[in-house]
Amino acid sequence: MTSDRPRCICRCEEVSEQALLTAIEAGASSLNDLKRRTRAGMGLCQGAYCLPEMAEMLAARTGQPLAVIPPMTMRPPVGGVTLAALAAAVPAEE
Ligand code: FES
Repeated sequence: MTSDRPRCICRCEEVSEQALLTAIEAGASSLNDLKRRTRAGMGLCQGAYCLPEMAEMLAARTGQPLAVIPPMTMRPPVGGVTLAALAAAVPAEE
């Protein structure tokens, strides 16, 4: 039994295998490039789930040995904080 649903590689950002293959065919040659083009690896797990499979796809399609593909640049999922929120978090001095 086969499924017509596209295979999801990046669960966090819902990026399909086909989207990644299209990006590689369009010239993506590194994991950071794949990340920028598709958002794969930008989710909450920061690539913990999808990165190994993305690296294998990239190696297979570009002919690069898996061992020489550099890891993605990791960025912790943090956001900005307003000064008002910071001020509210500090107890008032008496
Ligand atoms: S599965 Fe890709 S970032 Fe989490």
